[in-house]
Amino acid sequence: MSLKKNIDLDNLPKHIAIIMDGNGRWAKEKGLLRVLGHESGTKSVRTTVEACVDLGVENLTLYAFSTENWNRPKIEVKTLMGLLIFSLKKEVQTMQENSVRLNAIGNIKHLPRNVQKELLQVIEVTKKNTAMTLTLALSYGSRDEIVNATRQICDKVKNNIISIENIDDALINQHLYTRNLPDVDLLIRTSGEKRISNFLLWQIAYAELYFTDVYWPDFTNENLYEAIINYQNRERRFGKTSEQLK
Ligand code: FPP
Repeated sequence: MSLKKNIDLDNLPKHIAIIMDGNGRWAKEKGLLRVLGHESGTKSVRTTVEACVDLGVENLTLYAFSTENWNRPKIEVKTLMGLLIFSLKKEVQTMQENSVRLNAIGNIKHLPRNVQKELLQVIEVTKKNTAMTLTLALSYGSRDEIVNATRQICDKVKNNIISIENIDDALINQHLYTRNLPDVDLLIRTSGEKRISNFLLWQIAYAELYFTDVYWPDFTNENLYEAIINYQNRERRFGKTSEQLK
């Protein structure tokens, strides 16, 4: 029986972020090429997006390509970029039907021209959708994001647009790629690794972390429900005591 019925729909995480890990190992264990793991991973992307929309999760952010992933073999990078274009073309209609707004974070200008073009087109076409914001982290690195924000803020101080006293949490937030997104409530990482890998370091300050051994291509809706139920059973104290929360 599905775990879905055990989810409290009034206490959903507003923002789920996922480190989709284990595509390569999934393929290797099956004696397949790594790229086939990524291809299979796109199916989990689809089912996870659909499940989140169905539940009413407002924000889903997927770590699709990190700044460090540029160092992978050329053929793997090329395949990942190809899969991205293919998926964007294939899924734009479904995004419209489900009112999913596409968003991207990262050094988008670093992506190949054809990927940028497709991405910006889908972002434009879906910009008025309201059910869920699907953010793809592409050529994304959290340190890179923070360096970038720091430069912009320093530039504003230098040009007397703001003063040093204006620098606070909110101002830093406004200079991150995620400026329009709420903080992450639930961070999921698949494949058994227990690392953050330069993903949303600022935004996960109070996130609940959930690690599962399941490889990303095997990640099902039931695995997602399990993560959400686990999240709902935790006490989020935000630095307060249990008594203060009552
Ligand atoms: C990590 O597995 C996964 C990636 C680096 C890429 C994730 C990309 C996809 C799921 C497909 C395209 C995405 C979209 C949004 C359509 P890994 O290769 O590091 O696995 P390993 O650690 O087992 O080697």
